Amino acid sequence: MNLSVNANSILDEQLGYAKRVLSLAPTVYGNNPKACVITFGCQQNVSDSERLKGMLYEMGYTIVDETENADFIIFNTCAVREHAEDRVFGNIGTTKKIKKERPNTIIAVCGCMVQQKHIAEKIRKSYPYVDFVLGTHVEHRLPEFIYKRLNGGGRVFELSMEDNTIIEDLPTRRDGKFKGWLPIMYGCNNFCTYCIVPYVRGRERSREPEKIIAEFKQMIKDGYKDITLLGQNVNSYGKGEAHGVNFAKLLRMLNDIEGEFVIRFMTSHPKDCTIELLDTIKECKKVSRHLHLPFQSGSSRILALMNRYYNREKYLELIKNAKERIPDVDLTSDIIVGFPGETYEDFKETLSLVNEVKFASLFTFIYSKRKGTPAAEMPDNISRAEKGKWFSELLLAQEKVAENNIQKFLGKTYRVLCDSHSEKEGYMSGHTNGTAVVEFKADASMLGCFVNIKIESYDNGFIGKII
Ligand code: 5AD
Ligand code: SF4
Repeated sequence: MNLSVNANSILDEQLGYAKRVLSLAPTVYGNNPKACVITFGCQQNVSDSERLKGMLYEMGYTIVDETENADFIIFNTCAVREHAEDRVFGNIGTTKKIKKERPNTIIAVCGCMVQQKHIAEKIRKSYPYVDFVLGTHVEHRLPEFIYKRLNGGGRVFELSMEDNTIIEDLPTRRDGKFKGWLPIMYGCNNFCTYCIVPYVRGRERSREPEKIIAEFKQMIKDGYKDITLLGQNVNSYGKGEAHGVNFAKLLRMLNDIEGEFVIRFMTSHPKDCTIELLDTIKECKKVSRHLHLPFQSGSSRILALMNRYYNREKYLELIKNAKERIPDVDLTSDIIVGFPGETYEDFKETLSLVNEVKFASLFTFIYSKRKGTPAAEMPDNISRAEKGKWFSELLLAQEKVAENNIQKFLGKTYRVLCDSHSEKEGYMSGHTNGTAVVEFKADASMLGCFVNIKIESYDNGFIGKII
């Protein structure tokens, strides 16, 4: 079967349903309907929600921020840690009252969390007022599900992951005006032992380079100046695909597009971060000077248990290569504290790595047991309270590193995208092409422009001036 022909017909079918909802919904609700999309979790989810909003807009819905007056409410959920799941259940619970007052309101839950069987079952039994539960591979069929429900259809639990077809050209409503997300691949093949993502998002699949380039060019035309390429592991973009374009090549192709803009990307797996990629970043001036390289643990013993395919030495060698090639690079990372079997000695290796590398910032997490992952079966003897103490120690170490990092920015001039109003009267705020945020005196008319900013001081954030 020709996959792109299949994808086109799926898209056409859904756009057909969207048109039908457009004329049917006002007769059900008595006026133009409103939709509220509530997003949990990572940037991939934020990006998926922008596609959901795009489809809802095509169906005639006005997008609102509050659930109160919405005729359609969808929760786009995250499964990476238990805490996120608890929050989602709390939120779904609040819709019971809405459904009682306005029975025509449609309540939907989609995303990674519901792709787990036990969660879908819990919703089926304990949350009877939820109308749709949609897995990660069927979200593009939203128009069809809404149409059928408005026509009197029953509850929908659609969780099939069989069809891996990427549906291109779905309508999109982006949240930002200058900074935007652009997914280049979906799924993950790595099976880190703590992580639920490969089970709920399925195997890795990359978009065609032509499709990415076309969407990128359209975003530039629409005024976007800072675009982040998204994937669970962008460094393995194109692996196993006939087009032969790897991530480094894709970056070069995007860098060649005319105009002034910044290309960012996340997330990178250290095992796939090649010298070719580092050289590409160095040579491509529009590619951001930021590498997010999650190391998770500084202990080689724990890294092996995590199935990460690198050890402490290899990671440090990669960091050395990155710093040598791209001296102005900002490094960030993810860390898990309290993985099953981790001892204080292992944790101290994480601390020492943090002190050695001097990351610009860190995303730190206490290990959360995920049902169905190999780590969930590993013995875990350290108490939550003890893990909490280690976690605080890590935060303190990073605070000191960050304090020392400030010095390297002072007195330097950066090209900055002026992307928002600052809370300070008469000031605007912007991002460098790394991770720094700087505030500077500027007129609101500078919004969306690049300016040269000299960073002069630090007061809970960088302050600079236009030069
Ligand atoms: N527990 C805690 N943190 C986790 N992450 C992924 N799975 C878990 C888990 N079970 C973290 C990793 C990953 C980031 C997105 O979330 O650090 O890089
Ligand atoms: Fe999870 Fe590892 Fe895949 Fe990242 S690379 S999504 S941590 S399995």
